Amino acid sequence: MAQKTETLQLKDSPAAYGAISRVNHWGVALGMIALLGSGLLMAYGPLTREAVAPIRDWHKALGVVVLIVGLWRVGWRLAQGAPRPASDMPPWLARAAKAVHWGLLATVLAMPISGILISVYNGRAVTSFGVVIPAQDKVGWIANAAHGVHQFAGWALAGLLVVHVAGALKHHFLDHDATLRRMLRGAA
Ligand code: HEM
Ligand code: HEM
Repeated sequence: MAQKTETLQLKDSPAAYGAISRVNHWGVALGMIALLGSGLLMAYGPLTREAVAPIRDWHKALGVVVLIVGLWRVGWRLAQGAPRPASDMPPWLARAAKAVHWGLLATVLAMPISGILISVYNGRAVTSFGVVIPAQDKVGWIANAAHGVHQFAGWALAGLLVVHVAGALKHHFLDHDATLRRMLRGAA
């Protein structure tokens, strides 16, 4: 019986995402979606101050983890470049998809950095699984500016994510191409 030998491709190739990029993508995506949901719930949900407090602690702890993994994830993408699109599409659409990807990567760093600045410059330390980022003397304008960035980048993330997921679903269900498959399972 013929033996099927498939080696696990770790790095990207010009046509496919390797295992490292796929783990990076789905791990950070899960974290960012959980943080976006919890952030919007804290800011606009019906919860009392007491109910928000433990969610805020959890939000900050997970956010610091996303920053650490996110630095690696963005570095890996910068070092690797990106595979070419899985199917032919008009140049403007390929450019738009790329811009959405870079926008999303920017939020992976901007959200946790601004979040940490909100807390520490309001005089509160941030703790995440034993890692402590110490409180600083209160500086109102830094905390307020960081809150503005966190709010703006949070809504930008929500908008980019809607376009990004809609694009992935269109490729899969309407165009029937390998875009979503190759991010889930590797080689197209
Ligand atoms: C890493 C990805 C993160 C995402 C996607 C995210 C998302 C959000 C969103 C959408 C909000 C609501 C903003 C608004 O419209 O007012 C929020 C609030 C907040 N986030 Fe984050 N966040 C992240 C990381 C962090 C980190 C690392 C910290 C701090 C260590 C942090 C601290 C806060 C604080 C203090 C608030 C205000 C909560 C309140 O209104 O009481 N966030 N976040
Ligand atoms: C359910 C949610 C998601 C789905 C279905 C999804 C799907 C995909 C697919 C199919 C690709 C490959 C596109 C291509 O080959 O051109 C991709 C790439 C990408 N996605 Fe997502 N994605 C999701 C969530 C996210 C989130 C939350 C982020 C970031 C915050 C994100 C950031 C990216 C980036 C930066 C790329 C470019 C390749 C890379 O650096 O990994 N995605 N996504």
